[in-house]
Amino acid sequence: METQIAEIAPNIYRLSTYVEDADFMFNQFLVVDEEPVLFQTGLRAIFPLVGNAVARLMPIEQLRWITFGHVEADECGSMNLWLAAAPNAEVAHGEVGCMVSVNDLADRPPRPLQDGEVMNLGSKRLRRIETPHVPHGWDAGLFYEETTSTLLCGDLFTAIGNSPALTEHEITGPALAAEDVFRATCLTPSTGPTIRALADLKPQTLGLMHGPAYAGDCSQALCDLAAAYEERLDAEGTRIHGPVSPVT
Ligand SMILES: [Fe+2]
Ligand SMILES: [Fe+2]
Repeated sequence: METQIAEIAPNIYRLSTYVEDADFMFNQFLVVDEEPVLFQTGLRAIFPLVGNAVARLMPIEQLRWITFGHVEADECGSMNLWLAAAPNAEVAHGEVGCMVSVNDLADRPPRPLQDGEVMNLGSKRLRRIETPHVPHGWDAGLFYEETTSTLLCGDLFTAIGNSPALTEHEITGPALAAEDVFRATCLTPSTGPTIRALADLKPQTLGLMHGPAYAGDCSQALCDLAAAYEERLDAEGTRIHGPVSPVT
């Protein structure tokens, strides 16, 4: 097993580890700048592999920020190993996530980020966008790198299997197939609108945590995903409550 490196936008590197037994991949993203950022740490079990991949791109001890979408083992399991390896690094996470979990879990105090707050990394600008419960987790959020229009979209579009580093092939079908297996997405009335708001950013590239990076029509893919989840929410509501009569 090894971690593959691919540059998906200028100085934004996808670090990808495919776990054959699970037929599933785990990706992290390294933004190399004056203040380098690691988005998603990976599981503790793959820290040696991911650490080695980062070391091929820059000295690990120069990492400045460690961040992730929401608290889960694959998102932040190795956070404290990274803090130990990079003495000047701090964890940055959304305000809610810091309050609920990270203030306690992290070995050093985290930097709480407000919704829409921009981290100035030097030449790059990384904006935190809170997406509570999308795709899951009260503390869920993601990052948009404004200078390259790259949306680091975490678990959105999660797919099973191995994939190329970058693709223009459609990613909504594989995501819905994986959703049928995992049921990982929290279907609520805000799921569709939250994803559609991401489409409004008009990203050029999507960085998936479990799948390829996508360089096709990103806004269309996000709108398609939002519509598919809304259909599923309606179907689930009908299944549970039966058809709802129109309000008179
Ligand atoms: Fe997750
Ligand atoms: Fe994940």
